[in-house]
Amino acid sequence: MNRQQRRAAKRSGAKPPAGTAPGGGSDVAVAGLFDAALAHHRTGAVAEAERQYRRVLELSPTHADSLQNLGIIALQRGDAAAAVELIGKAIAVNDQVADYHYNAALAWRALNRDDEVAAHLERTVALRGDHALAHQNLGNVRREQGRPAEAIACYERAIAAAPNLAAARFNLANVLVELGRWDAAIAQYNQALAIEPNRAEAYDILGQAYLATGDIKSAILAAARAVELKETAPAKTFFAQCLRYGRFTSDNSSRFRNLTLRALAEGWTHPRELVRVGLSLVLLDGAIGDCVARANAAWPKRLTAPELYGTAGLQALLRDELLHCLLQSAPLTDIGFERFLTSARAGLLGAAEADRTCDDATLDFYCALARQCFENDYVYGLADGEAAQAERLRLALDQALAEGRKVSPLWPVAVAAYGPLAALNHAEALLAQSAGQLWPQCIGALLTQQITEPAEERRLAAAMPALTSIDSEVSRSVRQQYEENPYPRWAKVALPAEHTLLAGRKAGQIPEVLIAGCGTGLSAVTFAQQAPDARILAIDLSRASLAYAKRMANALGFGNIEFAQADITKLDALDRSFDFIDSSGVLHHLGDPWQGWRVLLSLLRSGGMMQVGLYSKLARQSVTAARALIAERGYRPIAEDIRRCREEIVAAPDGSLLRSASAFSDFFTTNECRDLLFHVQEHQMTLPEIKAFLAEAGVEFAGFVLDAGTRQRFLARFAEAGSLFDLDRWHLYETEAPATFSAMYQFFVRKP
Ligand SMILES: C[S@@+](CC[C@H](N)C(=O)[O-])C[C@H]1O[C@@H](n2cnc3c(N)ncnc32)[C@H](O)[C@@H]1O
Repeated sequence: MNRQQRRAAKRSGAKPPAGTAPGGGSDVAVAGLFDAALAHHRTGAVAEAERQYRRVLELSPTHADSLQNLGIIALQRGDAAAAVELIGKAIAVNDQVADYHYNAALAWRALNRDDEVAAHLERTVALRGDHALAHQNLGNVRREQGRPAEAIACYERAIAAAPNLAAARFNLANVLVELGRWDAAIAQYNQALAIEPNRAEAYDILGQAYLATGDIKSAILAAARAVELKETAPAKTFFAQCLRYGRFTSDNSSRFRNLTLRALAEGWTHPRELVRVGLSLVLLDGAIGDCVARANAAWPKRLTAPELYGTAGLQALLRDELLHCLLQSAPLTDIGFERFLTSARAGLLGAAEADRTCDDATLDFYCALARQCFENDYVYGLADGEAAQAERLRLALDQALAEGRKVSPLWPVAVAAYGPLAALNHAEALLAQSAGQLWPQCIGALLTQQITEPAEERRLAAAMPALTSIDSEVSRSVRQQYEENPYPRWAKVALPAEHTLLAGRKAGQIPEVLIAGCGTGLSAVTFAQQAPDARILAIDLSRASLAYAKRMANALGFGNIEFAQADITKLDALDRSFDFIDSSGVLHHLGDPWQGWRVLLSLLRSGGMMQVGLYSKLARQSVTAARALIAERGYRPIAEDIRRCREEIVAAPDGSLLRSASAFSDFFTTNECRDLLFHVQEHQMTLPEIKAFLAEAGVEFAGFVLDAGTRQRFLARFAEAGSLFDLDRWHLYETEAPATFSAMYQFFVRKP
C-alpha cells in the first residue's frame, strides 16, 4: 500500500469499533484487556494497543473485535494483505457486523480488488442500511466500473443517511456532470459547498457546469471563487475562459477589475480573449464612458481634447491600469472605443504639432495609444488633412534627428501613432537620443516595439532557410499578401496546459510535430510550451510572418522550433514524417485545398493526429456579403481602401449581413481585416464536403474543438451515443445554427 492509499484508508474512516465479542478464555480478563487495548488505540498509542490485542488473542484466539482492530492497524501501517487476512478472520467468526465488512472493503480497496470491495460494501449496507460511508464508497466503485446510474443511486442513499456528507454530494455532482445533467449537478455542488465552502476544485467544476448551461454570470462567480481559494494554473485558465464570454454591467467592488487585470497581465489566456470583457469594465467608469459617448455622438468629427475629455475624462483615463494594459496587449475590438481612440489620437497629433509639453502620466497614456495603433496596423480612419498633418510631423522629426537636434518626446509618440517609427530615415538616431535623455520608460518600450523588434525581424527574415521553392501563381500571391500583412500580431502565450493532441502519448515518446502554415507562430510556440520535448517544424510561405514567429520564440526561450519557408503543396518531397500536424486557417487559402490536405496527410504517421481549421461556408455569409461589396466598389487590399471599406460596413444597417462582418475580431486590425475580407484566395467548405474527403483519404474524424456551450446545445439536440463524431448530425445542427463555426471548423482527424 502506498502513502496515498494509506491516507485514503485513514480518510475512509477505518476506526476500531467498540468491543463486543469475547470469544473464549476468561471473559472478565479478556474484556479488561480488550478495553485497555481499545483505549490505547483510540488515543493513538498504536504499538501498545497492538501488543494488548495480541494478548487478547492469546487468551481468546477467535476474539473477532481484536482481529478486526489488528487488521485496521495493519491497514494504517500499509500492510493491506495482512489487513485482509486479519479482518477476514474476524468475519469468519462473525459475519453479521457491518463494520467488519466495511473495513474489509477498505483493505481490499488498498489492493485494488474492486470485486471484493464491492461485495463487502454490499454486505455492509445489507447489514446496516444507514451506513453512509459504505453507500458512498460503493458509489465510487460503481462509477469507476462505468455504471453511473448505480453510482448515483448509491450516492443518493449515502446522502439520505447523512445529509451533511459533503463528499457524497460532490461525488454525485461529478457523475451528473459526466452525464451532462448540468442542472442537477449544479444543485448538488451548491448544497455540498454550503457544507464545505472552501473546496476550490468544486467551484471549478461548478463553473464548468454553469458555463455549459449558458449561465455565464454564475460561471464567472464560481471560477473567481476557485481562483481566490487556490491559485492553480487550471483555475486561472478556467476563470479567464469564462471571462471570454462575459460582459460586466456593474462592478461595485474592484474584485473583477483586479482579477481581469491580472488575467491579462499574467497571461491566464490569450489577451485577445479578454478584450471585450476588459473594455466592458473600463466603460463602467462613468468619466471614461462619457468620453466614449462624446466621441461617438460627434463622429465623424474629431473633438478637441477639452471637448473629448471634459473635466474628469483625462484623469480617469490616466489612472486606469486595465485600459493601459489592454491597449498594449491586443487590438481592441469595439467600434465605439475605436472612435474615441481615433479622436484621442488626433488630439495627440495636435498637441505634438503645437509642441505642447505634457506630464509623464499623459505621455504614458499616449504611448499606450501609439502602441495600440501599431498593434492594429494603423487601422483607424483619417479625417481630412490628418494624414498630411501626420506626415508633416514625421518629416519634421526626421529632419530634427538628421540635424542632431533634441526633440520633444511627444513627437515620436505622435508619429508612432500614425505609422511605424521604423519608417523614419533616422530611426537609429532616435534610439540614440532616447538612450541619452531621461525620457520616461514608456517611450523606450515604444521604440523597442517599432524600431528594434522590426529590425530584428528583418534580419531573421533574410536568414530564414527555405525547404521548397514557391512556384505556383496562387502560392506566390498568397505569399505576397502575408509578406505585406503578416497575420496575426500577438504578444503573450497563455498559461501552459497539456495539449489535447498529446494527452494519450506514450511515456518517453518524443513527438515530431509539423505546424503547416504557422503564420506568426502562436500555435507553434503554444505547442512548444505544452510539449517542451517535442521536435517542431513550423513552415510558412511568408518570411515576414516566420521572422515574427522566430523573434517571439527566441524571446520566450523556445529553442525546440525549427522555422523554415516552404510551400505545403511541395512538402511531399520532404523526407520526414510527423506524429502531429497542425494546419489551422491555411488549407482554404490553397489553390486546391484538398490536394494540399492530401500532401499533409502523406506526412502523418499511422496513428498520428492532425488538427485542421477550415472556413465554414455557412458561418461566413457576412464575409461573402462584404467580399461582394469590395468587388462592386473596387476596393484594393491596401490600408487606405481597407479603412474606407470598414467605415462602409460599420455604417450598414444594424442586423444586416454586411454589418455583421464587423462582429469578427479580425475586423479590427488592417492585416487581419485584409485576411478576413480581402483575401486573394479563399475557399469556404461545408461539412458534407469534409466528410466525403475524409472517407476518400481514409482518415477518421476525431471530434471538434468545442466550447462548453456549443457542446451542450448540440448534445441537447442529438443525445444519441456517438453523435459528437457524426458529421451528418453536425451539418444539420450547423444548418439550424449557422454561426456555430464562425471561428472556423476546428477539428481533429486520426490516421488509422
Ligand atoms: C490566416 S494565416 C494563419 C496562420 C496560423 N496558422 C494561425 O492560425 O495563426 C494563414 C497562413 O497560411 C500560410 N499559407 C498559405 N498557403 C500556404 C502554403 N501553400 N504553404 C505554406 N503556408 C501557406 C500563409 O502564409 C499564412 O501565414
